[in-house]
Amino acid sequence: MDADLLILNAAHLLTCASPDGPKRGAALADPGLIHDGAVACLAGQIVAVGPTSEVLAQIDEPDAAVIIDARGKVVTPGFVDPHTHALWAGDRASEFELRIAGATYLEIMHAGGGIMNTVRATRAASLDDLIDETLLRLDMMLMHGTTTAEIKTGYGLDTATELKMLDAIRVLDEQHPMDLVPTFLGAHAVPAEYTGRTDDYVDLVVNEMLPAIGDLRYIVETPDGEYNIRAADFCDVFCEVGAFDVAQSRRILEAAKEMGLSLKIHADEFEPLGGTSLAVELGAVSADHLVCTTDEQLQALAASDTIAVSLPGTPFGLAHSHYTNARRLIDLGGALALASDLNPGTSWCESMQFIIALACRALKLTPAEAINAATINAAYALSLGEYLGSLEVGKQADIIVLDIPDYRHLGYRYGTNLVETVVKRGQVV
Ligand code: NIG
Ligand code: FE
Repeated sequence: MDADLLILNAAHLLTCASPDGPKRGAALADPGLIHDGAVACLAGQIVAVGPTSEVLAQIDEPDAAVIIDARGKVVTPGFVDPHTHALWAGDRASEFELRIAGATYLEIMHAGGGIMNTVRATRAASLDDLIDETLLRLDMMLMHGTTTAEIKTGYGLDTATELKMLDAIRVLDEQHPMDLVPTFLGAHAVPAEYTGRTDDYVDLVVNEMLPAIGDLRYIVETPDGEYNIRAADFCDVFCEVGAFDVAQSRRILEAAKEMGLSLKIHADEFEPLGGTSLAVELGAVSADHLVCTTDEQLQALAASDTIAVSLPGTPFGLAHSHYTNARRLIDLGGALALASDLNPGTSWCESMQFIIALACRALKLTPAEAINAATINAAYALSLGEYLGSLEVGKQADIIVLDIPDYRHLGYRYGTNLVETVVKRGQVV
């Protein structure tokens, strides 16, 4: 067969293969390790993967392809980051200092800072400035090995700015090599102008924002012609004390589901309100954070098709000592994914390598479990597991080469960039 890109001789190649759905429970421990591994790609797709000699034997003219020699190195699927707030304007460095001095995240938020602080900056920013600031972060993500990322709205909190954010995500998706998955998070916080009137704001989300966004399609031009894409694939809600309670979250998520949007929820970040049960009941694709989830709800989650997305960068960023009880979730047979939660308040971290290193320590994952959680399971957390997230024939050629001799160095080492080459859709980017 033909190939236009060959990655050969990898000391360790991890396929992270899981064709029949996310890796659950004990299956997370298997990274699909191939010694002296290779992968062949053609027109952006993987056409062969296996030991180097077997892959080469299948290729008619290996010299016609771009060849990457991965001798002494590690090859894995590109990271998928399934929970980010990567699109925003400004920063919150002064709040960071307040928090170090003892103020809590929720105190700052209830005093009108926090998310609202970033909302003011994002409302004031032009579309171009918002895009330019975010492009720098997307480049940083890509350099650290992330090839697909979700991005949420939620720093607009009025219809016009939420739409501006979706416009920005669409432009970024066109301009940037990463694939971006848009999520509508109009219910990220109660904006200042609705203080004390949360139900009125929920009315606005349900009656004005969702109809404007749920039906919105963008026309994208490609070499193969024009096609329509949804402005948002997912709807998410911050279910938390001081944000939206379970009844309010339910109203929004049910309305979104009615419009055909897939669901996500921020659940149990600070208080166990019941957002996890709601996610399971509504068939959400993922429930995210899960720091203080009760054991009963962890059991329900593990028994469901909803992916558990842990965001260890957030407790780390807030200098908290509680993290998702990932070992329990895995013991219960649950499907765990990892994400950065990249945002200006709690976790300004573009690197999934750091999230993996943190997950090994704070969540007690093995490197293999953490890598599966950051690739194939993260892809399933975006309903993309059939198309990307693993090195399997027929999947998108999203591949990274790491300058490490053993895959366990990913997790073991932290704070420097171990990624040497990033391949997106078969192109070295
Ligand atoms: O996931 N908890 C809500 N949203 C983000 C924080 C966003 C912010 O503080 O700007 C989170 O941690
Ligand atoms: Fe978040």
